[in-house]
Amino acid sequence: MSKKLVIIGASGHGKVIADIAKKNGYYDIAFLDDNENIHECGGYPVVGRSQEAEDINADVIVGIGNASIRKKIQQSIPARKMATLIHPSAVVAEDVIIGVGTVIMAGAVINSGARIGTGCIINTCASVDHDCNVGDYAHIAVGSHLCGTVSVGDETWIGAGATVSNNISICSEGMIGAGAVVTKDIIEKGTYVGVPAKRLR
Ligand SMILES: CC(C)(COP(=O)(O)OP(=O)(O)OC[C@H]1O[C@@H](n2cnc3c(N)ncnc32)[C@H](O)[C@@H]1OP(=O)(O)O)[C@@H](O)C(=O)NCCC(=O)NCCS
Repeated sequence: MSKKLVIIGASGHGKVIADIAKKNGYYDIAFLDDNENIHECGGYPVVGRSQEAEDINADVIVGIGNASIRKKIQQSIPARKMATLIHPSAVVAEDVIIGVGTVIMAGAVINSGARIGTGCIINTCASVDHDCNVGDYAHIAVGSHLCGTVSVGDETWIGAGATVSNNISICSEGMIGAGAVVTKDIIEKGTYVGVPAKRLR
């Protein structure tokens, strides 16, 4: 590992990633952002635009919350350059498989048999229990919980504080609202809110 990292996306989310990167031993951290008016993030410099990532001699992570943008940018960068970051306070079982470009944030718990895809965000204090399968570019937001053997499709967003009951499958590109409780499989993409979760639109 080069211990140099560029984070694409100089935002609040990027700032949190920078802190995790520092705790993972990266000593030289900088941002890339396509907004040329942003020069700094979390005390780290913005040194260029996202398309420059491939040419910079550093590991790369995409710090952008929007899944389709995150995916588009990550797919333009060779997988060998992508970092995978795990906050030291996260608890991750030994047999968990985590894809490149994924960030596991402070206080997250990922239990045995889980598989986390590429480019995912497992946010602060989220839990992913045994044998869950989290698809590529999914976001398991702050304080949300996947009970055992849950499947979350690619690019799906599980909102802050939401709970998904055990053995549930959620399709790709779904949006589960903050605080929702998902008790049945979700097979059609859309936004689902409430307890129990129902389709908003
Ligand atoms: C579900 C969500 C995506 C809907 O956003 P939106 O499309 O902009 O929807 P609106 O705010 O226009 O709300 C539409 C309706 O749904 C209701 N609603 C919105 N979010 C809701 C939620 N989480 N639970 C219950 N009802 C909700 C609104 O009250 C509103 O109801 P009304 O029509 O009776 O007034 C959004 O509210 C949400 O929960 N986002 C997740 C945020 C999050 O988890 N952030 C994590 C950062 S780590």
